[in-house]
Amino acid sequence: PGEGPLAGRHVLVTAGPTWEPIDPVRYIANRSSGKQGFAIAAAAARAGARVTLVAGPVHLATPPGVNRIDVESALDMAEAVKRALPADIGVMVAAVADWRPVSVAGQKLKKRGSAPPALLLTENPDILATVASRPDRPPLLIGFAAETNDVIKYAKDKRKRKGADWIIANDVSGDVMGGDANAVHIVRGEDVISLPEMPKEEVAHLLVERMIDVFAS
Ligand code: C5P
Repeated sequence: PGEGPLAGRHVLVTAGPTWEPIDPVRYIANRSSGKQGFAIAAAAARAGARVTLVAGPVHLATPPGVNRIDVESALDMAEAVKRALPADIGVMVAAVADWRPVSVAGQKLKKRGSAPPALLLTENPDILATVASRPDRPPLLIGFAAETNDVIKYAKDKRKRKGADWIIANDVSGDVMGGDANAVHIVRGEDVISLPEMPKEEVAHLLVERMIDVFAS
């Protein structure tokens, strides 16, 4: 810290999946590996930023110089993000679960020999949209959009709907989730930069270069 183009800047990154508890031993999860978000945190730290990484449950080492806060559920992630603000740049990469069980059983649910239990779900808060509407909103706020079709169209919608400055759109119809490579489009309004498929570390490096541009100008 102290040197590099992002020296003196605080970068807040969310990464990984969330786990939504059903009972003490069961949860709902998704296939996010956290690799892209961790790579962005690492690249921002290399650029000299102070980095807070709010991470869902993943099997990844903490990048050098990064302050990592581990969380499990979307509600915990929302709380950790709120506590980590203010930040100069927010990069919401986490694959936050859209829904969580309405109630968490205090004891392990039992097979009763009758009908299986019905899971009643409720919507999780949208962390990106919530951060976007706060008075301490980071001056540069970036979201991700994982889609299987019409990625740029949905990303443009999402950018407006959630109040983000940029949306990084990626096509997850292949093995992006959990894989080591990613092909993304940086959607900044009508201006779209499309990058070819490359390692997630390289995507992270190029994204951080674009972030540096914003603070250099
Ligand atoms: O709506 P969708 O899940 O596709 O939006 C993806 C973007 O919104 C990502 O940046 C993700 O981290 C963020 N998000 C969030 N909180 C949610 C859902 C998504 O911050 N509950």
